[in-house]
Amino acid sequence: MTEKPALLIVDDEKPTRDGLRAALEDRYDVYVAEDAKLAMELLERENFDVMLTDFRLPNEDGLKLIARAKSISKPPICILMTAYGSEELAVDAMKRGADDYIAKGRLQIDELEMRIGRALRRQNLETENVSLRQQLDSKFGLENIIGESSAMKEIFEIVRQVAPTRATVLLGGESGTGKELIAKAIHQLSPRAKQPFVTVHCAALAPTLLESELFGHERGAFTGAHERRIGRFEQAQGGTLFLDEIGEIDATIQVKLLRFLGERTFERVGSNKTLTADVRLIAATNKNLEELVKAEKFREDLFFRLRVVEILLPPLRGRPGDIPLLAQNFLREFAHENNKLVNEFTADALQLMMNYSWPGNVRELRTAIEHAVVLCRGEKIFARDLPPSVRGSRRGVIQSSAGNDLTIKEAEKQLIERALKDTNGHRTLAAKKIGVSRRTFHRKLHAYHLEGF
Ligand SMILES: Nc1ncnc2c1ncn2[C@@H]1O[C@H](COP(=O)(O)OP(=O)(O)OP(=O)(O)O)[C@@H](O)[C@H]1O
Ligand SMILES: [Mg+2]
Repeated sequence: MTEKPALLIVDDEKPTRDGLRAALEDRYDVYVAEDAKLAMELLERENFDVMLTDFRLPNEDGLKLIARAKSISKPPICILMTAYGSEELAVDAMKRGADDYIAKGRLQIDELEMRIGRALRRQNLETENVSLRQQLDSKFGLENIIGESSAMKEIFEIVRQVAPTRATVLLGGESGTGKELIAKAIHQLSPRAKQPFVTVHCAALAPTLLESELFGHERGAFTGAHERRIGRFEQAQGGTLFLDEIGEIDATIQVKLLRFLGERTFERVGSNKTLTADVRLIAATNKNLEELVKAEKFREDLFFRLRVVEILLPPLRGRPGDIPLLAQNFLREFAHENNKLVNEFTADALQLMMNYSWPGNVRELRTAIEHAVVLCRGEKIFARDLPPSVRGSRRGVIQSSAGNDLTIKEAEKQLIERALKDTNGHRTLAAKKIGVSRRTFHRKLHAYHLEGF
């Protein structure tokens, strides 16, 4: 972008307008207006990047003008110029949508330009974020779900195939791998998208409560059932019912679910009237259901009925290639949320994240980035900004400051193993990857007894 940003200056005093124009016109494409009415006319005709307005204007004040400017389809960044010392007004301005304010009495062009530049960079971050999202949307139809690893791409493909059907889906995978996110995506990509998506956390309720939560109850069905209540199945009519932590349900409910999956019928607690619901079921668990079946804690017939389509979400450490992508996205999200300009990671920070095992998977990564964004001071995330858990592990990284010899050797061995793994055992490529000559590499293979790799 070589074009100059378009700037609109609104001030009723000609000397101010001219002064600002003269000072800013070689960096900005400057327009001027002497009141709110003229300003609005210009705003509706042209696309402005920035509007700089005085608070005191004839007829309509600068705050009202900002509110109106922010309601057009591509609103400019709005900076309010206030009289020196009117802090309250400034606060009010920010509440009403101003992006920044500056005291006019001691207006310095340097500072003004710095403020404009800062606001512009912040806005660029936002638009970049939006367009990145949109790109992902149109590419996957799976908004917000990030992943370029082959494992995740395969999952997206299954999601696309299974979404249009009514097939029951069983989602497996460690905590924080994105099961709920996938469940929602399946619903959203299905013809049921406009109908309800209802979630029940099966582990959160005692068995009797869970039963009435799912199937509803009649008045007087049990002590405390003062009113008839419809259950989640009825609420999800036409849509999708997501049963989270399905591994936790007891035998009675297992039977009822089995029946629903067979006949699509059920009864409210305390009623013998048979009801039916057109509901698609998606279930998730971070337990190994097969083991629960073996231990006779989960009915095998129900397991098979649920597992019409099974999607297993891989742990994050199994797809390290997704880490930078996810990290970058969370960085954008939290930078925006916290109004920070931080937009990249140092190589060190990235390296640490790549080497960490992420037992809490994507959820843990997300929280780690939030932590880092809150703590960081500049435009980059440094290693020191990451949570101690992530910083603590330096697996595979050789540090010049490392303590004893043994640790360095161990680290080097791991580094070599990793390089071999990454290159499918291709020694020349692996050597190149860690930056040593082929001969040195061979010597090290020998030293670490890795020849058979
Ligand atoms: N591929 C992904 N792209 C973007 N965000 C993700 C991805 N996977 C997970 N997340 C985010 O990580 C967090 C955890 O995801 P989610 O709640 O879906 O995990 P889960 O598998 O249901 O975990 P649990 O078993 O603990 O309930 C959420 O904030 C979610 O938005
Ligand atoms: Mg979940």
